[in-house]
Amino acid sequence: MFIDFYHRPAGKQGFHVIERGRDRRVSGEVVQKVETIYSDGYYFVACVLGLRWIMAAYEFRAGLEGVPATQSSISYVDGQRGILEYRGIAIQELAHQSTFLETAYLLIWGHLPNQADLAEFQEEIQSHRRLKYRIRDMMKCFPESGHPMDALQACAAALGLFYSKRALDDPAYVRAAVVRLLAKVPTMVAAFQLMRKGNDPVQPRDDLGYAANFLYMLNEKEPDPLAAHIFDVCLTLHAEHTINASTFSAMVTASTLTDPYGVIASAVGTLAGPLHGGAAEEVVGMLEEVGSVKNVQTYVDRCLMSKQRIMGFGHRVYKVKDPRAMILQGLAEKLFEQFGHDQYYDIAVALEAAVADRLAGKGIYPNVDFYSGLVYRKLGIPTDLFTPVFAISRTAGWLAHWKEQLGENRIFRPTQIYTGLHGTKYLPIDQR
Ligand code: CMC
Repeated sequence: MFIDFYHRPAGKQGFHVIERGRDRRVSGEVVQKVETIYSDGYYFVACVLGLRWIMAAYEFRAGLEGVPATQSSISYVDGQRGILEYRGIAIQELAHQSTFLETAYLLIWGHLPNQADLAEFQEEIQSHRRLKYRIRDMMKCFPESGHPMDALQACAAALGLFYSKRALDDPAYVRAAVVRLLAKVPTMVAAFQLMRKGNDPVQPRDDLGYAANFLYMLNEKEPDPLAAHIFDVCLTLHAEHTINASTFSAMVTASTLTDPYGVIASAVGTLAGPLHGGAAEEVVGMLEEVGSVKNVQTYVDRCLMSKQRIMGFGHRVYKVKDPRAMILQGLAEKLFEQFGHDQYYDIAVALEAAVADRLAGKGIYPNVDFYSGLVYRKLGIPTDLFTPVFAISRTAGWLAHWKEQLGENRIFRPTQIYTGLHGTKYLPIDQR
């Protein structure tokens, strides 16, 4: 719980004590006595620390902003200094030296694999990429106009029907679930894309790496090695980001001890919204709407005047430019150099400068979604697959949190501040 402790004399008169006697520590000091008290619609914690009484407000924080929901050793973000680490390793190092699968292993098992571990993990993933024909048949019934995130959510949940044995305390079960989900999510995304165009899905190719195989299944041709490498880096960049909305959703679902397929399905549903994973899709639409560098200033002025959010900017945690946006911008430049320029990149750069002029004072800078859409588009990924691609990558982070949650599980059950009525009389329908 996020508590700003402040001193207050033992004046807790007038408060109604609703709970007492739990042991806690505050800044390393043992709390001898704790009382949770309620007054004027707010909850407070009062405790005896050493010889003094301390009062702390249980204040309500909309969106749980700044409220710790768990203890985790998976990733770390310093939003003021623009630092992101996975298991203590800087994201820049992983982007430049690791691969997505190695990073997924690091996130989930907590350490970098040695050569044999990595080879075994890659082989396992490779051999589980195919989908059961019943899942493909189910997907054939999905309307082609449906959003691919909805298709992915349904398919992830459906995996639970096929692998229904639940043995959460068996490491072999946990590993099999990790492998299955990491292996099959990309296949499901690519299969839906082909099926909605009326084509049969392309079978995965065992001789291709994780990123290259996905681009192959999607575009039906083997990707250029640079394109595959850049896509692999994109996957690494999106693999994990502490307790964001979808990860929290995964953790809440995991805390009920349901199966991992339900956990991933609930996270996919949460990632779909435009304030979370859906932003990359909106960024490309926005750049198309702006249309030209000369329209950028007017667009920004108009958005800010009408209090409209500029997509791809701002972050709950980062108050500087997101380190992933910096890496993605570099990748975009590399791609455009190799495969031809994209005029929307110039619009994006101009937009970044115009937004910085107006919003840098509020700590609003490009987030991870600002440049990722441009990179994905150049890789031949359709706009409405940007968020499913994000999900392919974030499945690694969600699984890492699922595994961590199982290690020390307590079902999530927060409280609320009730603002409604009491003692209201039921009015029969004929009297309303
Ligand atoms: N454009 C214009 N103004 C903004 C923006 C933006 N994109 N983001 C925040 N602000 C302003 C906001 O109007 C508010 O101003 P004021 O204090 O004058 O009312 C101030 O900045 C603080 O905003 P907030 O809503 O309290 O910030 P938040 O931490 O709740 O929201 C956010 C974070 C990501 C939801 C928000 O910045 C946003 O809506 N951004 C656009 C959507 C987007 O790009 N989402 C991707 C997020 S990163 C990847 C991910 O999580 O999946």
